Amino acid sequence: MTEKKTIMDYDTVALDDEKNALVIIDQTKLPYSTEILELTDLKKIWDAIYLLQVRGAPAIGVAAAIGIYLEARKIGAEESEFEAFYEKFTRAKEYLDSARPTAVNLSWALNRMEQVVLTNKARRVAEIVKCLHDEAVEIRNEDIRVCRAMGEHGLTLIKDGDGILTHCNAGKLAAVKYGTATAPLYVGQEKGYSFKVFADETRPLLQGARLTAYELQESGLDVTLICDNMSNMVMGNGWVNAIFVGCDRVAANGDVANKIGTSMVSIAAKRHGIPFYVCAPTATIDMCTPTGREIRIEQRKPEEVTEMWYERRMAPAGVKVYNPAFDVTDNDLITGIVTEFGIARPPYRDSLKEIFALKDKAKQNK
Ligand code: MRU
Repeated sequence: MTEKKTIMDYDTVALDDEKNALVIIDQTKLPYSTEILELTDLKKIWDAIYLLQVRGAPAIGVAAAIGIYLEARKIGAEESEFEAFYEKFTRAKEYLDSARPTAVNLSWALNRMEQVVLTNKARRVAEIVKCLHDEAVEIRNEDIRVCRAMGEHGLTLIKDGDGILTHCNAGKLAAVKYGTATAPLYVGQEKGYSFKVFADETRPLLQGARLTAYELQESGLDVTLICDNMSNMVMGNGWVNAIFVGCDRVAANGDVANKIGTSMVSIAAKRHGIPFYVCAPTATIDMCTPTGREIRIEQRKPEEVTEMWYERRMAPAGVKVYNPAFDVTDNDLITGIVTEFGIARPPYRDSLKEIFALKDKAKQNK
């Protein structure tokens, strides 16, 4: 008998070279149905990022890298002169970059792709397009290695049987494999550890309920779903040994933007003396943004709060709604930032620089 395919067997985000398409799981349909989208059109890729069909900082970065490659392929078929190619490439890049403002992985991946164009400027356009293909594939493969490394580092912070609380979805569905906040759990599971995970539902878009609870359950991890307003009580009950969250942008001083509600979890964690860890690949660390105050926070439509996920609108018509998608957790509430090069500890202004020094060293040794 063949085993049933689970959500863990699908690629969150991939490139189909035969169809020249970005392939994603439509995350707005989970957990009810697993619908695979094959996107070839730049506008559709922009929509997929904006509508959260593909979401989570690392997955957005990978999708953007594949998306800009696919567009460059089309541009390359029309323009053989570098200047004309580059002008259209830049326009497409800026367009994709406008889909969501907070997750820095989007511009990080697009800038990296642009760098490939500029470095290979002297070559024929067709060759540049081939280099873009290889870079997009590398960005995707790198995400797997990076998340796995974060998992190894994160696992040193917990032990078998621990209670772990997480917020939003920083899991496999937010990346390619392993996820960021879930990486220590999946790596631990590979080594035979078990954990008791509490997943915050994460209002208003319910990424914790629809995605984290789903993928952890499908993976065979012990997961309990709680409403956002229950996490303080769960911590008070003594059920949580550590908190792991993902992030969308880390500022140079260690302030962290992540899904709305993360800062409240960090405040409660401090009150209960529970370590609060942020898992952040270096692609999510933005040393050009000095503090959390300078991070642009995405504001989203009121309907996400008043209507989505309900059979009927549940709030009074015309009521004012404030719907920021992210908030900033101040660095003094963060016990450690887990990266692929190790764990940064306060003061983050110094430790994050040390992490990047390790990254440079690793690049030189390649
Ligand atoms: O709006 P979303 O669903 O893209 O927000 C996702 C988050 O806030 C995640 O915690 C973050 O991107 C880290 S994903 C590994």
